[in-house]
Amino acid sequence: MRVLILGAGGLTGRYLVKESRRRGMEVTGLTRQDLDITLPDVARATLLKFKPDQVVNAASLTRLERCEEDPVASRSINTTAPADWAKECGKADVRFVHLGTDYIFDGTKTTAYLPEDSPAPLSRYGQDKAAGEKAVLLANSQALIVRLAWVFGHGGSTFMSQLPGILAEREVVELAGGRRGSCTYAAEAARIILDLAGGDARGIFHGVQNGETTWKGFAEKAAGLMRGRGAKVACREIRELPADRIPGLKVARPAFSPLDMHKTETFLGRKIPDWVQGLEEYLAEIGF
Ligand SMILES: NC(=O)c1ccc[n+]([C@@H]2O[C@H](COP(=O)([O-])OP(=O)(O)OC[C@H]3O[C@@H](n4cnc5c(N)ncnc54)[C@H](OP(=O)(O)O)[C@@H]3O)[C@@H](O)[C@H]2O)c1
Repeated sequence: MRVLILGAGGLTGRYLVKESRRRGMEVTGLTRQDLDITLPDVARATLLKFKPDQVVNAASLTRLERCEEDPVASRSINTTAPADWAKECGKADVRFVHLGTDYIFDGTKTTAYLPEDSPAPLSRYGQDKAAGEKAVLLANSQALIVRLAWVFGHGGSTFMSQLPGILAEREVVELAGGRRGSCTYAAEAARIILDLAGGDARGIFHGVQNGETTWKGFAEKAAGLMRGRGAKVACREIRELPADRIPGLKVARPAFSPLDMHKTETFLGRKIPDWVQGLEEYLAEIGF
């Protein structure tokens, strides 16, 4: 099985490359420096060059503030390019896997979001990712979309990725309160994505770990696990602030966005481990 991973320098992309290699797949990972997915005709030429059986698109403009500042880039990376790749993959009979987000929802539900729930995005990023999902499936009805949420992993720039280091160093940790969601260790996200793709799943699936939490709940659990593992934890207090008082979090995010995993678990025939297990695996990986 030859797999081509786009956005291979990003958090999820790196774990996808690693997990594909572990499974003995023939992997080509292309970072943004190797290949800009938005260039005209790039999809067709790249498929001809590498002749993959499967393309996984982990490239995305993920910083919400950047998407608001540069809506043209957001639309191009998050909507138009994925649809072009989906179309070219369809023509070449190559399996196309695309990644989505919980930020396509507005957070007004009181139970976990189902794959078939209608998007109602609050931000430019959410709008363009929702439009991307739709455009991908319109261009290629055989495509697979796996929605992730609050991903954390080694070298990630997300707050959750960096939290163990922050807890080790700072006595008081201030974080955004008032939001509840699913979260995912990037290694587990990669396993779910490749399992779904390998099982020939098509359409929309969720790819998070079970259970829901808040950033505070995640930080408290991380601090407890780190202490239990004998790691240094300087943090004595975790304070929740309204998100708009945290620099870099001005753009609206859903207050409630857990993703329901029943469809994925039924398809895969296995229970997905909860986020605490993912966090334990992550702490072990980074030596905390
Ligand atoms: N991280 C999360 O918490 C989260 C949550 C829900 C869903 N997701 C989804 O999961 C997927 C992967 O996200 P991630 O967390 O791995 O994000 P990430 O770490 O920001 O990775 C995205 C990668 O895409 C690259 N990229 C951006 N524009 C590109 C272009 N035009 N051509 C090629 N590559 C380009 C980025 O390169 P540069 O860094 O050089 O720009 C980066 O390496 C995305 O679809 C995202 O929407 C992520």
